[in-house]
Amino acid sequence: MTRVFKLALILLIVPIIFGACKAEKAASVHDNQYANEIQNLLRQMTIEEKIAQMSQVDPGFYQSADALKEAIRNDEIGSILNVTGAENVNELQRIAIEESRLGIPLIIGRDVIHGFRTIFPIPLGMAASWNEELVRESAAIAAKEAASVGINWTFAPMIDVTRDPRWGRIAESAGEDPLLNSMVARAMIHGFQGDDLSNPLTIAACAKHFVGYGAAEGGRDYNNTPIPDYYLHNLFLPPFREAVNAGAATVMTAFNEINGIPATGHKHNIRQILRKEYGFNGFIVSDWASIEEMIVHGYSADGKQAAQQALEAGVDMEMASRTYTDNLKQLLDEGKVKMEWIDEAVANILYVKFQLGLFENPYVDVSLADSLLVHPQHLEVAKKLAEESVVLLKNEQNTLPLKKGTKVALIGPLAHQPYEQLGTWIFDGDENDSQTVLDAFIEFNGSNNTHFAEGLKYSRDQSTTGFSDVSRAIAQSDVVVAIVGEESILSGEAKTLAELKLPGKQEELLVLAASKGKPVIMVVMAGRPTGLLQTQHLADAILYAWHPGTMAGPALANLIFGNSVPSGKLPVTFPKGEGQIPIYYAHNMSGRPATADNWVHIDDIPVQAVQHSLGNTNHSLDYGFTPLYPFGYGLSYSSFEYSNIEISDNQIQVSETLTVTATIKNTGEYTANEIVQLYIRDLSASYVRPVRELKNYQKIELQPGESKQVNFTLDKSDLGFYKPDGTYIVEPGKFNVWIAEHAETGLMAEFEISE
Ligand code: NOJ
Repeated sequence: MTRVFKLALILLIVPIIFGACKAEKAASVHDNQYANEIQNLLRQMTIEEKIAQMSQVDPGFYQSADALKEAIRNDEIGSILNVTGAENVNELQRIAIEESRLGIPLIIGRDVIHGFRTIFPIPLGMAASWNEELVRESAAIAAKEAASVGINWTFAPMIDVTRDPRWGRIAESAGEDPLLNSMVARAMIHGFQGDDLSNPLTIAACAKHFVGYGAAEGGRDYNNTPIPDYYLHNLFLPPFREAVNAGAATVMTAFNEINGIPATGHKHNIRQILRKEYGFNGFIVSDWASIEEMIVHGYSADGKQAAQQALEAGVDMEMASRTYTDNLKQLLDEGKVKMEWIDEAVANILYVKFQLGLFENPYVDVSLADSLLVHPQHLEVAKKLAEESVVLLKNEQNTLPLKKGTKVALIGPLAHQPYEQLGTWIFDGDENDSQTVLDAFIEFNGSNNTHFAEGLKYSRDQSTTGFSDVSRAIAQSDVVVAIVGEESILSGEAKTLAELKLPGKQEELLVLAASKGKPVIMVVMAGRPTGLLQTQHLADAILYAWHPGTMAGPALANLIFGNSVPSGKLPVTFPKGEGQIPIYYAHNMSGRPATADNWVHIDDIPVQAVQHSLGNTNHSLDYGFTPLYPFGYGLSYSSFEYSNIEISDNQIQVSETLTVTATIKNTGEYTANEIVQLYIRDLSASYVRPVRELKNYQKIELQPGESKQVNFTLDKSDLGFYKPDGTYIVEPGKFNVWIAEHAETGLMAEFEISE
């Protein structure tokens, strides 16, 4: 090699290496404010002590409380999940601090998903409020309550975009849209963590499940998630990018395999995308036994290989299974894992422990819980969020709101079920705190005006023996309020349903109610979009309440009797039936889009019609092409008029911003909130783009007759997309922009990004 050539090569390679190091360094935890303390500890730790930090256990794994304590004393554990109680946790921490060799505190994790003791609406309901501040507040309250019993870390928010209402965990997500999932990610992380993680009333958040878990085929939990890179980058990853930007302290890997590689062993997604590209500097925990389950997937031959693959992929802490504990030392001795990887994992974990202030004060003030749990202010926020999460789907002839003093037949299996209204993942919720619809109706409207007959004891009840009581209650009343839906156990993890229709004999109950000739108001409490095609015509008004939490009763009574006005909008498309799934608003444009004029209903096809393919469009012969209710949909007791869409320019450069405005007028009789939505469509791009994409929204309050101009700005961060390799690109060309009430309506303008 000539000297000149060598020099040229060095000049070429050095910046590349230097650049790579720089990128890695930026994302490295060794750069943080606790770097010296962490290095100090790492220097003192034995390999066993390091591996212990990487292990999270459940107390149930130990034969006795003493056995758990002994394991802490012997430096075998870095984290525990599912212990609570200030005194209990303090004792475990005391053993870790005072009796283990190096005195490293534990980090105590728990699923605090939509509240701790005060239960807020399920996350899907929170998303329906489109109220970031209120969601943040609910998470801050959950953090306070959880911290008061010794919890340092929650496994929330779940920000898995999902487009399948059969999937039980849709209850835990913010629905089908990456922007709404990003909003919930930001709001919850800011709420849980506050400004300062060392504040004793904040806890570390965990963005989960990285990544693609919501794409489970058929909505069957833990199922395959084939996700082309284009969709990974544009749909499933953006909420995680937002979570990292919002400062999430931890991230959890997912159970699913993604394009053949288990998410928990996915080196590219974890090390390249999450760490290097997004700069995530907290720690990464597996899901429950998801490292060991790589053996079941058939990706790892045994626990040893699973441990090697997970660590190499960048998983810092193992939840529940013990492949790290059992194998890492041997893997290190055999040179199959690097000490550097172990040190990095331990450093990441210690970093979060330092941030939480656990080294300075690992103990919780035991008097805190009494003054904090289900504090009246917490209940107020729970009521407000429950109110704002409810979506009014139908209101014929202004059936709602009811006048106070109206005689109501209150029926249905969820009208007085303090436990069921709480929804999924409520380990620490207490049904004794719940205020049911029956409680609230009696309080708001008087017991004389409330004729209660649930008709069915629970949502799946097949016995109609209670129906005669229902008929009697209706005979004594002017209107029927039917609280139907799903028991809480029917949604959440591993709660897939193949059919979405209301379970048990609820349809029959509604048929009975509708047969009496009195207005029927149907309130649905459920963890997912249920199939309303069969029942919606039986009701004059429908309020979709999700599982609203502790304050379900007062929130619904406020809405039903007009003390407040519904403002929620759907975070997910409601299909007409399971056969329409997946159906979501932001689908890519088809070459043969269906329109109101060009789709053919099955009944319109003549008998023995000649086979032909012309004029065929993107629809089902039976259901057509529109859903039952579109994304973003939700009515109000008031009405709104959208007018005068204006854009600041018809043409902008990539670097410029565009302002889009419209006037929204409250044309009804109630002071009300409206969620005004901004959508765009990139009309021609190097990759086919969705027919619409939500880019922003504002929730505005308007008095009757009042008009407001809403202003949105769009810039290059809104107007581009990710190519399959993850690079972000804004392409010149024409765009549509809408200011809209929901995804299927709106005022439209056009603009162009010039070369
Ligand atoms: C499994 C779930 O997938 C995850 O979301 C949860 O945080 C863990 N179990 C711990 O309970």
